[in-house]
Amino acid sequence: MKQNLLSVLDLSVVDLERLMADAARLKTERAEGCCPPLLAGRSLGMIFEKPSTRTRVSFEVGMFELGGHALHLNQGDMQLRRGEAIADTARVLSRYVSAVMIRAYSHATIEEFAAHSTVPVINGLSDLEHPCQILADIFTIRERFGRTDGLVAAWIGDGNNVCNSLVLSAGMTGMEVRIATPTAYAPDPAIIERGRAEGGQIVCARTPEEAVEEADVIFTDTWVSMGSEGEEQARREAFVGYCIDDRLVARATDRAIVMHCLPAHRGEEITDAVLDGPRSAVWDEAENRLHVQKAVLMNLLATFDERTFQQMLE
Ligand code: CP
Ligand code: NVA
Repeated sequence: MKQNLLSVLDLSVVDLERLMADAARLKTERAEGCCPPLLAGRSLGMIFEKPSTRTRVSFEVGMFELGGHALHLNQGDMQLRRGEAIADTARVLSRYVSAVMIRAYSHATIEEFAAHSTVPVINGLSDLEHPCQILADIFTIRERFGRTDGLVAAWIGDGNNVCNSLVLSAGMTGMEVRIATPTAYAPDPAIIERGRAEGGQIVCARTPEEAVEEADVIFTDTWVSMGSEGEEQARREAFVGYCIDDRLVARATDRAIVMHCLPAHRGEEITDAVLDGPRSAVWDEAENRLHVQKAVLMNLLATFDERTFQQMLE
């Protein structure tokens, strides 16, 4: 593994397989009441510039279950709010904690932090990517289908951070990714290009109907991501026709599942009937954040320890 997880592209196929296997083992062990304290004495700093329910709770509970500790650091309560440099914050936190997870508005902030941190850094969502989310999604799809290779995933809605991570992971998962977004909300062409360069089969569909035709997995997300609140009205108008409802789901395969990273805006990007219906995988998807992130923490810290040990020997 690399030292940081800032993008899904920081992972090799071997890393992905390892994370999936470890997450599956941790999930089974937890169900059996067994949580080995593999990260005893370790602390995770969690910096949040934006709100969070799943990311905060799953990382915090994950560290607790692994015998470690997590610190919730609201950016507004830190000296960052008063102008302390992100680089200085990284230098100092590296002296206290074993790893840092950051949720930031700008991906550049996370990169800047990582450049000055001497401990592993995890992207807990930026404007560019949400790697922890897509890892949990891949895990959930594998639980349901036993594989990702050869499946068709349709992304309907906003071409945002979660969509970008899905596109960039397509080469690793072997899923065909079809994207249907209003033109103004399509992913950056550079992301599509990179996804293809990484071996991903990415199709830009003309309509949601075309994208979901015989799809195995249907993804959506809010039309108004954190930070886009001022655009609410324009977005609601642009996304008319992009709601995941029974009519759209009926075009997919009989085994198709519906995914949403949550929080959902019921009646906007997804109907109650779909979210609460038999095709919805969203509650397992949310739970799996916990198991997958525990695997991420274990593997990043194991790699870091190994590297530190090697440096001591040199
Ligand atoms: N899916 C997700 O990251 O949820 P939160 O914003 O609640 O962390
Ligand atoms: N695209 C959403 C994801 C929330 C978990 C956002 O950035 O707000």
